[in-house]
Amino acid sequence: MQIVKYVFQQHGDERGRLVALEEMKDIPFEIKRVYYLYETKERVHRGFHAHRNLEQILICIHGSCDVLLDNGTEKKVISLEKPYEGLFVPNYMWHEMYNFSSDAVLMVLASEYYKEEDYIRDYEVFLKMCKKDEDDDTV
Ligand code: TYD
Repeated sequence: MQIVKYVFQQHGDERGRLVALEEMKDIPFEIKRVYYLYETKERVHRGFHAHRNLEQILICIHGSCDVLLDNGTEKKVISLEKPYEGLFVPNYMWHEMYNFSSDAVLMVLASEYYKEEDYIRDYEVFLKMCKKDEDDDTV
């Protein structure tokens, strides 16, 4: 499984640091939505879904957290702990977020508006969809 982690350009000087993100340049899609998770309770796991169309970039702009990515065949855990790093989460990628530090702020840039119909929330259904995709590819 290929993990795409962006390292954004940092503009730093004696005053501090700044990261600027522009759609279709630093971010590979048009940003339709931004949301962020904060004050996540200890030991909480979030996510547990994949998307049909949505693409996202996860940036832990403060603190740290871990992200499990699962494409139906392979699983990988990625730690996010730098405000200048972004993890690309493509469609059809099951994801879970956990190990949030108490000060973690996880910001998500999303390519689509919020749409419940885009969610795949049942892991067995997700696995079947991955399997079907593989079978289609081999024909
Ligand atoms: P939820 O999907 O449970 O978050 P997670 O995937 O991190 O477990 O979302 C929590 C609530 O927020 C739920 O009521 C739906 C709402 N929500 C929006 O209204 N807009 C959004 O963009 C997102 C991501 C969630």
